[in-house]
Amino acid sequence: MSVLAILFISLILLSNFNNKTEAKAFLFKETTIDHIHIALKQNKLTSRQLVEFYLSEIQRSNPILKGIIEVNPDALFLADKADQERKSNSSKSLSRLHGIPVLVKDNIATKDKLNTTAGSLALIGSIVPQDAGVVKKLRNVGAIILGKATMTEWAAFRSTNLPNGWNGRLGQALDPYVASADPSGSSTGSATSVAANMAAVALGTETAGSILFPSSANSVVGIKPTVGLTSRAGVIPISHRQDTVGPICRTVTDAVEVLDVIVGFDRDDFPATKKASTYIPHGGYRQFLKADGLRDKRLGISNYFFGSNDIKTYQQHFNTLRKKGAVLVDNLVIPYTDLVNNAIVVAQFTALSAEFKMDLNAYLKHLVHTQVRSLADVIAFNKISPPEKLKEYGQDIMLEAEKTNGIGKLEREALSNITIACKYGFEKMMKENKLDALMSPGADIADLLAIGGYPGINVPAGYDKTGTPFGISFGGLKGSEPTLIEIAYGFEQATHIRKPPPSHPQ
Ligand SMILES: *[C@@H]1O[C@H](CO)[C@@H](O)[C@H](O)[C@H]1NC(C)=O
Ligand SMILES: *[C@@H]1O[C@H](CO)[C@@H](O)[C@H](O)[C@H]1NC(C)=O
Ligand SMILES: *[C@@H]1O[C@H](CO)[C@@H](O)[C@H](O)[C@H]1NC(C)=O
Repeated sequence: MSVLAILFISLILLSNFNNKTEAKAFLFKETTIDHIHIALKQNKLTSRQLVEFYLSEIQRSNPILKGIIEVNPDALFLADKADQERKSNSSKSLSRLHGIPVLVKDNIATKDKLNTTAGSLALIGSIVPQDAGVVKKLRNVGAIILGKATMTEWAAFRSTNLPNGWNGRLGQALDPYVASADPSGSSTGSATSVAANMAAVALGTETAGSILFPSSANSVVGIKPTVGLTSRAGVIPISHRQDTVGPICRTVTDAVEVLDVIVGFDRDDFPATKKASTYIPHGGYRQFLKADGLRDKRLGISNYFFGSNDIKTYQQHFNTLRKKGAVLVDNLVIPYTDLVNNAIVVAQFTALSAEFKMDLNAYLKHLVHTQVRSLADVIAFNKISPPEKLKEYGQDIMLEAEKTNGIGKLEREALSNITIACKYGFEKMMKENKLDALMSPGADIADLLAIGGYPGINVPAGYDKTGTPFGISFGGLKGSEPTLIEIAYGFEQATHIRKPPPSHPQ
């Protein structure tokens, strides 16, 4: 063999070898908790490398997407600490979320260098008394708080004119798929950042659609847990009756892994977390990620949510669900539709308005330091120092809420209407038809779930002609997370719809 031939062969061998090492290298984009956990355990990855990857993605994409309002200045320090813990075989490092960067919505308190502001300039520099209950649970298992996700200011409870994903601090967040599309809210940054691979997983919060809607709009999975299943302590509130904290992730499995960590009793959210803790299954939620999760599940379709166009759009999915063994119960009518409509459109906001004032005032009172101690202070702050947009969008919801005075006659009537609508509307329909879940296109079911504190899961379901994502939602009775997870996982595994957004939004 000539020297040239040997050189040629060795070049081929070398390039093959390089390809192989590349193939073996850890794939950061679209990675999952499971992949990360295994790579960390096998010393093929460090938490530092993982955090460095997300920091570089944030540096590249966030100036355009504006999904992240603050990056934790201690993220690399925390990653090194996690790597150290793993090296010394600390028991903490066995947890599946150990060393994994988590983004939390800006209304979830962290007692660190990050601000907790719900996107409002009024709360910059305020000091929280402690980590939120869910953040404590994340830190206990060694997860890394990567930063704060942007959100619709005050979770959209400032003004009816506020665009989804806009706040006075960061401005307008973008949908990573289609720049002109509505990125939805109010957990906008949690959904867009996870979709765009700027974080491994995220937490959002929901009062009436704020997890399910942005998950649908950004092709990610969102779990809205039964109210009380996850602690709301340290979360800037709208209503203790409806607020809930849940995961927003790229896969059902990741969302379930995060859910497993954040659920459970918290003495700072008593009695709600005590009551709901009876719903938590022994052994956690991962056992419900079953390949045949759809078998014999009874799934409801109501024209309350599915118009004739939706039926066309989702027909193929209905076929898939049937093929996987689900029974579709069609043409459902929600009993007492008028009562349900009233509860959703009128009574809900009557109740929320009064609850918002009480719950926000209580939250602000407990801050260690702040320039606003009440809703009235926030309204005054908005008036005195309005950047141009603040002036333009106004604060009508806050002004209405400020006029309320606790739970009076009107609010009691609203709450009673809600209770009746839930019992004789949604619950009656679910029980009479023996449904495991009610489905909706996108997140349209969110308000129905909101008024009763019911759980729901959104899973990616497709992209329209413009490339804008849309999802499908499954909602159920309180504590039905195990069943909803079986259904959502079954649907995801049968369809595999999600694809990452383009490197720049179209
Ligand atoms: C941790 O465990 C591994 C594998 O069991 C062992 O090789 C290593 O020496 C341990 N490290 C420490 C610091 O105990
Ligand atoms: C929190 O807000 C203060 C005041 O604007 C700012 O100086 C600080 O950098 C913020 N913290 C982070 C982590 O961005
Ligand atoms: C409660 O329901 C009744 C009957 O539908 C309706 O007339 C009333 O306006 C409702 N009240 C509130 C506060 O929603």
